[in-house]
Amino acid sequence: MAATASIDLRTEILRLKKERNAVILAHNYQSREIQEVADFVGDSLGLSYHAKETNADVIAFCGGHFMAETAKIVNPERIVVLPDKDAGCSLEQSCPAPALEEYLRRHADKNYYVIAYINCSGAVKALCDCICTSGNAVKIVQSVPPDRNILFVPDANLGSWVIEQTGRPMDLWQGACYVHVEFTRDSILRIKDEYPDTPVVAHPECSFAVRLLADEVCSTEKMVHFCRAHPSPRFIIATESGMLHRLRRECPEKEFIAGPTHHCACADCRYMKMNSMEKLMRCLRDLSPRVEMPEDLRARAEIPLLRMLELSR
Ligand code: 13P
Ligand code: SF4
Repeated sequence: MAATASIDLRTEILRLKKERNAVILAHNYQSREIQEVADFVGDSLGLSYHAKETNADVIAFCGGHFMAETAKIVNPERIVVLPDKDAGCSLEQSCPAPALEEYLRRHADKNYYVIAYINCSGAVKALCDCICTSGNAVKIVQSVPPDRNILFVPDANLGSWVIEQTGRPMDLWQGACYVHVEFTRDSILRIKDEYPDTPVVAHPECSFAVRLLADEVCSTEKMVHFCRAHPSPRFIIATESGMLHRLRRECPEKEFIAGPTHHCACADCRYMKMNSMEKLMRCLRDLSPRVEMPEDLRARAEIPLLRMLELSR
């Protein structure tokens, strides 16, 4: 019965997609069913490029709200809908625009070049010089003139990983992803004991202690490339659990083990998991909820986003 219902939902989503001339973009953390019905599945960087290049009238964005908002910023004339408008992000919440504005005012003497990780609101993007994702953060930081002080917001873990990679000092906003900080040194050591000689692949939003134990630290899309190219038949993956669906589809001959957190066998982002097939069908049917934003804010947020897309080509 449940299987029939999900086949019907899938059929209806595909029908509505055609009727609306819509494209479905899905982040690597979405459920297997959503990934399977999407036109493109990828990391924040790949999704930003796809959002920019689409000719569709409607973009149905299955990911975090900040990702759908990014699609709207670069596509003001298109309708952007998302299955659940409450699909937020703890990083976005850790850096409200008024707090950043106040910080920049208090430290005006530093004349900061502000780099914002894409996991932030449109209002924060509008205050920045350049956006980055985990896939291009090193390149973006390396492009900043050497005489400028850099403020990196909002993820302190990603920021410190970039400092390690580039040697470039930066001041870091003290935000964190509530999912990735739940992987701990002990939880990763335990799974390494269980599966000796298995490479650990971790997202840069993980803490320093976890990154130290990893064989590779990279964005979700680069995880696919790393695991495909590496000779090991098995990997431990320290990121949100949806990534395992993507990896299993891309490398069906390999085994992927979820990195456990300090309290759970795998890590789920409650925001990413708010999206469902049912809600995806409804947002295509009703063209709601939509992402809307004031034009002056959108135009200001577009400048650092386009700079990122240009710099990371
Ligand atoms: P990626 O850009 O690597 O897909 O990461 C997005 C994200 O939200 C990680 O938690
Ligand atoms: Fe935000 Fe973390 Fe969820 Fe990614 S996994 S969307 S950073 S809360």
